Amino acid sequence: MRIDVLTIFPEFFQVLDVSLLGKARQAALVEIHVHQLRDWAAFKSDGTPDAHRTVDDAPFGGGAGMVMKPDVWGSALDDVLEEGGVLVIPSPAGVPFTQALAAELSESPQLVFACGRYEGIDARVAEHYAGRGFRVLEVSLGDYVLNGGEVAAFAMIEAVTRLIPGFMGNAESIVEESHSDGLLEYPSYTRPASWRGLEVPPVLLSGHHGKVAAWRHEQQLERTRERRPDMLADGGAEAL
Ligand code: ADE
Repeated sequence: MRIDVLTIFPEFFQVLDVSLLGKARQAALVEIHVHQLRDWAAFKSDGTPDAHRTVDDAPFGGGAGMVMKPDVWGSALDDVLEEGGVLVIPSPAGVPFTQALAAELSESPQLVFACGRYEGIDARVAEHYAGRGFRVLEVSLGDYVLNGGEVAAFAMIEAVTRLIPGFMGNAESIVEESHSDGLLEYPSYTRPASWRGLEVPPVLLSGHHGKVAAWRHEQQLERTRERRPDMLADGGAEAL
């Protein structure tokens, strides 16, 4: 998979090299290119040089903040987005990012993350590339507002790349983790069996695989009911 990130803060993404993702990069499972958006802002839309490399302008209709210019984004995306690529625009106004969406995106040949700042990117950018046949997704990390798309893009890149076959050492740990079966993961314990007066649930020491599996499933249901009843309401109920 190839991932391209367009941002005015490329330095945010240096940490990609030191995390687990760095290993996937070294193993050539994923190729990540981080681009400075201002490299496409050297000229104004009338063709004259722009020493300031401006990427934003005041919103039509008035209001607070600035909007990122469509001409700059258009030049950058024309260069970077490849056939079959998916354009992902992190935005608090997007569709929710879920494990199911991460799994879907992990099968794309190319993901391009367009990281907006300020009040976002001129809405015609998404419209234009959707009109040209690209899959365009405005995606939200959650119901809160970040300063820009960078942190959201980083989280999405981590969630997507760890699902690429060969990335995780232990494929089972992916199958058993939270959200993969519509439920939260069960609690885990390791040695010592007794710690500060707290005991590991005896069933886990029993060596009885069937009982362990049943206990874990019950714990998943209990946790999900308590912490995320919404997951049981919308489809997770099939796991009951
Ligand atoms: N940009 C700002 N806030 C965001 C959020 N919650 N999700 C994705 N991108 C964002």
